[in-house]
Amino acid sequence: MAKLESLGIKRIEGIHYYVHDLDRSRRFYCGMLDFAETWRSSKELEATGRQRSAVFEAGDVRVVCSSPLGEGGRAARFLAKHPDGVGTLIFEVEDAARAFRLLEERGGTPIDDIQTFQDDGGTLKQFSITTPFGDCTFRFRERGGYRGFFPGAEQVSAAGGSNRFGFEQIDHVTSNFQTMKPMLLWLEHVLGFEQMWEVEFHTSDVDPNRKTGSGLKSIVMWDPPSMVRFANNEPARPFFKSSQINIFNEELRGDGVQHVALTVPDIITAVRGLRANNVNFMPTTASYYEMLPDRIVSAGIGKIDEDIAVLRELEVLVDGDHHHAYMLQIFLKEAAGLYGDKKAGPFFYEIIQRKGDRGFGAGNFRALFESIEREQQKAAR
Ligand SMILES: [Fe+2]
Repeated sequence: MAKLESLGIKRIEGIHYYVHDLDRSRRFYCGMLDFAETWRSSKELEATGRQRSAVFEAGDVRVVCSSPLGEGGRAARFLAKHPDGVGTLIFEVEDAARAFRLLEERGGTPIDDIQTFQDDGGTLKQFSITTPFGDCTFRFRERGGYRGFFPGAEQVSAAGGSNRFGFEQIDHVTSNFQTMKPMLLWLEHVLGFEQMWEVEFHTSDVDPNRKTGSGLKSIVMWDPPSMVRFANNEPARPFFKSSQINIFNEELRGDGVQHVALTVPDIITAVRGLRANNVNFMPTTASYYEMLPDRIVSAGIGKIDEDIAVLRELEVLVDGDHHHAYMLQIFLKEAAGLYGDKKAGPFFYEIIQRKGDRGFGAGNFRALFESIEREQQKAAR
C-alpha cells in the first residue's frame, strides 16, 4: 500500500480512564505511584458532564480518571457496560484541521466537529473519533499555547507526588480483541500506521500433553514519525476460550486496552521503591531466573549489566535478541487483583526500561502467561 500522508501525531498525550471510585484512583496514582494530581474538574464541568475528573501526571504520562455523578455522563455510560477501563486515548497533533480532514477522507468517523477553546495562553483545538475497539474513542488535540489541561479543569496547587520512581512516557499501548484484523486494517488505512512486529505464542508449545493452555497472536502497529506504538492481541486456538486474551475480553465485556507501558530510566530502583510502597506485581517463577543465564546467551544478548540475583529478588523480566541490546520489564497486578474488586477491571500497567531493544518482550510472553494462569487458577480455587 502506498504510504499515506502523516496525521501529524506528536505523541500520546494521555489516557482517559473511567472508574467507579475516584478516591481509590487518587490513592493509587498519588499514594502508590507518586504521580502528582494536577487538575480537577470544576463544579460547572461536573454539572454539565455529570462526572468528576482528576488528572494525574508523572513525567510525560498523563492519566485522566473520571467517575460518574448520577446517570447520563460518559463515565456512567461506559461503566454501565464495563468494569473500570480506558475509554479514550488522547493524542497531541500538529494541526487538528489537517488530522480531521485526513481522517474523514480515509473513512474515520468523527463524533464531533473540531471544538476550539481559548484561554490567556492560546488556543486548544480538539475532536474525537470512534474506533474499531469497543467503547474506546480517540481524541486529537492541538495545543496552541493553551495553558489549561482542558476547558473546565481547575489547576490543583503544587501538593502531590514528585515522581520519585522516574516515570518518563508511554512506551506502547496494548489492546485485546476477539479478532484484531479490523483494528489492524483501520490503523493502516485510516490512521496511516505501519506494521512493526509480530509474534505468536501458545503455552501448549511448552507442554504438548497439556489439556488446557493459552495462546495469542500479537501484531504491533506504529506511526513512525511519532513512534506511537499499538500492540494488538487476539486469542489463538487450541483452547481459544481459555486464552488469557479471551478471558480479558470476557472480564472487560468487550475489546479494549489491556495494558499501558510506562518507561523508566532505572527499573531496578523504580521497582525496589514501588515494592517498598506496597505496589503489587505479577509474580514470576524462580525457574525463569534459573533459565535466564542460558537464555541471555541463546537469545544473542550475550551479557547484561544487571545482577541476576537482583532481578530475581525484584522479579524483573529480561528480553532481547541483539548483542548487549535488551529491555527490562515488569507488569503490575491488574486493577481487579490490586483492589480485590472485580469492578476495578482487568487493565494493568507495564514498566519498561529499554537498553537498545525495540521489541515487546516476546521471550517473556511465556513467563507472563504462566504467571497470569497461576493467578487465574488460584482465583478459581
Ligand atoms: Fe507491553
